[in-house]
Amino acid sequence: MQNSELEIEGESQSPILRIQGLSVHRSGTEVLRDVNLEIQRGEFVGIVGPNGSGKSTLIMTILGILKAQAGAIQIYGERPMARENIGKIGWVSQAAANISSNIRISVRELVSLGVVNAANMFQRKTKYQRQQVEKAIEMVGLQEKAAVGLNKLSGGQKQRAAIARALASNAEFILLDEPLVGIDRQARNELLKLLDKFCHENDKTILMVSHDLSAIRQTAHRMIYLEETIHFDGPSDAFPALLELADLRGIEHVHDDQINGIKPIIISNVEEEE
Ligand SMILES: Nc1ncnc2c1ncn2[C@@H]1O[C@H](COP(=O)(O)OP(=O)(O)OP(=O)(O)O)[C@@H](O)[C@H]1O
Ligand SMILES: [Mg+2]
Repeated sequence: MQNSELEIEGESQSPILRIQGLSVHRSGTEVLRDVNLEIQRGEFVGIVGPNGSGKSTLIMTILGILKAQAGAIQIYGERPMARENIGKIGWVSQAAANISSNIRISVRELVSLGVVNAANMFQRKTKYQRQQVEKAIEMVGLQEKAAVGLNKLSGGQKQRAAIARALASNAEFILLDEPLVGIDRQARNELLKLLDKFCHENDKTILMVSHDLSAIRQTAHRMIYLEETIHFDGPSDAFPALLELADLRGIEHVHDDQINGIKPIIISNVEEEE
């Protein structure tokens, strides 16, 4: 079976995201090379990699903010900035915790921005939309802070408000770049569980960058190790141990057994434990 054409109940599904031979340069240096990736609807995919390995660059290129030097990206079969994709893609940035204290809006106002799009910008919010906003605030545990100004929140609380904004939207594909920064371990685990639940119950697709390898590994179904290019792509339980990871960098060989229907690509000189 082709990875790209999963047969589900006789219906052929195209991947939500398809990246082929992607190369991205920044300031004249190639920071991503030959990235190939496909994500299917309903997947929760974690991306890990060292500082400066190109994780944010990949997210920003998927969003169409950065241009590729070579290769192709398709989201729902269209180019990233396509009109057809408006409102379908949600994004929580690495800098959400740094939202300027000069912006005088409350948590509820920020989350409400999630339900605003080009089509409904000048309309009154419907009851359903207002409920979506309250539900999202509750999901991230900020009910008591709903009317509080963002400038009064801690970094982790601002981060949660930014996540709530993405949850309140109708986006089907949500990209999160380090959404757990500044959030303590317990809140982090709760948030990850919540995202997982959200992904399952609402049939959303999540692509999330995180430094917290152990936390993301427990939640994401599929893990990607990125360092200029993809060195591992497979089920989370097949993700190499940290010691092996050290050996992963810059080494070849593609291990192509199927595990849980996902083909892990392991570029390593270390044999995988079965
Ligand atoms: N605005 C920029 N202009 C030029 N080069 C940049 C810019 N931002 C990042 N880079 C370079 O691109 C490479 C990839 O950066 P990127 O931010 O994608 O890494 P990252 O994996 O997200 O790192 P981190 O874990 O620190 O967030 C790095 O070498 C970085 O120095
Ligand atoms: Mg980054």
